[in-house]
Amino acid sequence: MAKDTKASHLEDGTGRARPLLHQQAREIQPFGKIVKLPIALDEKVCAASAENLNQILADTIALRDLYKKHHWQVAGHTFYQLHLLFDKHHEAQDELVDDIAERIQILGGISIAMAHDVTETTLIPRPPRGREEVPVQLSRLLEAHEIILKETRTAARPAAEGGDDGTNDLLVSQVMRVNELQVWFLAEHLVDIPTVRADRAKAASSGS
Ligand SMILES: [Fe+2]
Repeated sequence: MAKDTKASHLEDGTGRARPLLHQQAREIQPFGKIVKLPIALDEKVCAASAENLNQILADTIALRDLYKKHHWQVAGHTFYQLHLLFDKHHEAQDELVDDIAERIQILGGISIAMAHDVTETTLIPRPPRGREEVPVQLSRLLEAHEIILKETRTAARPAAEGGDDGTNDLLVSQVMRVNELQVWFLAEHLVDIPTVRADRAKAASSGS
């Protein structure tokens, strides 16, 4: 039957324009294996950097998505500013995701991509599906940033020592600096100071 259908396509002249659907084959590179590119770097160094970068990638994807969750679910009198800030940070994290993933490919590795793999790899605690208060949202984000910063500092030095300056540069100039800056912007929202009336009692006691 299928042969007849194919024959009829050939006969009516549409055969070459017809898409070949439902194709399958073995993968061309298993995850975790390096296919080295000619970038004058030792394969072991490439493999070590790719492994470290994949951990940072998984956590950066999780943090990026945590920002979008909070962007949608934020509540309260700071809704508007946090709604915008969370989206701005999400955008910067999304750029980092692409830069980290492409660095892994440049090193001859395979970057993780799908949510299932991120879930299995990330060290960032899973938040509930429901909404949370702003201080909890901010605390979660700060904790996630610190996990990533710790990994970044740990991975940057061996990359440089192995001669992988490109990875070191990405980690220090981009990942580290963006995360540090975002920590500052978040942490200042958790300083408990009056918003309308100055606390005169505290001023008097600290002055004496
Ligand atoms: Fe939005």
